[in-house]
Amino acid sequence: MTLLRDDDLSAAFNHGSLACDRLVAVNPGYRSDLRRSARRLGLADGGRGMRLLDLGCRTGASTAALLKAARHAEIVAVDASAGMLERAAAKCRPANVTFVHAPVEAMDESQVHGSFDAAFAAYLFRNVSDPDQVLAVVRDLLVPGGRLAVHEFTLDSGRVHRAVWSAVCGAVVVPGRWLTGVAALYRHLRRSFLEFDTATDFASRLRRGSFGRVRVRPRGQTGITHTFVAQAPGAVRDQA
Ligand SMILES: C[S@@+](CC[C@H](N)C(=O)[O-])C[C@H]1O[C@@H](n2cnc3c(N)ncnc32)[C@H](O)[C@@H]1O
Repeated sequence: MTLLRDDDLSAAFNHGSLACDRLVAVNPGYRSDLRRSARRLGLADGGRGMRLLDLGCRTGASTAALLKAARHAEIVAVDASAGMLERAAAKCRPANVTFVHAPVEAMDESQVHGSFDAAFAAYLFRNVSDPDQVLAVVRDLLVPGGRLAVHEFTLDSGRVHRAVWSAVCGAVVVPGRWLTGVAALYRHLRRSFLEFDTATDFASRLRRGSFGRVRVRPRGQTGITHTFVAQAPGAVRDQA
């Protein structure tokens, strides 16, 4: 089975949006892990005067985490799936959040009305066809020295993480497949973890993409979730 990409992936996410929300609701650490990663952006003064980007916002859990870390900021939340965005907008519509329907790869400043002080991408990068291209887009949308936090499942190459991941699949991913009826999406999720970068490889990818001050912090009890924090090139803003 191949991984789902682009339009096929959006269609699967459209179809599975309600069920994905149900799975998140029964996962006790999901929202608190996102909040912790969003806080790692180190946004001062509740993000007052800042513009922030939430990439691959799904139905808004990561947007809510960003809002919690920076309640005064202007937030643009982007997703390629119209179904996900409809649910996000129905749940969360504070005046300082705007939802944009677009693949990240196709975004430019004209579409999102200017540049951003920081960006958050939770569980996005495993799903895109070309992570380097997405990093290049984000780098161009950030102000010089702007921060990126990536919250992602990243296994290491050893057996322990793979065994943990198999256990997580047994407990969450496989039942999710039956709950949603979107079997292809859940097969994709299962495989996308195994085929994505290790934490070390993703940190190297960030550096190759000209991001600096790359830090990798493990998250969660299983050790398979990480937050990567990095800065776009250029003058370094005093944020932390
Ligand atoms: C696992 S969900 C993200 C979860 C969300 N950030 C959260 O923390 O709850 C992945 C999301 O990325 C979106 N996505 C996948 N590829 C994308 C792309 N190239 N551009 C924009 N969104 C994309 C999917 O539609 C889906 O909603």
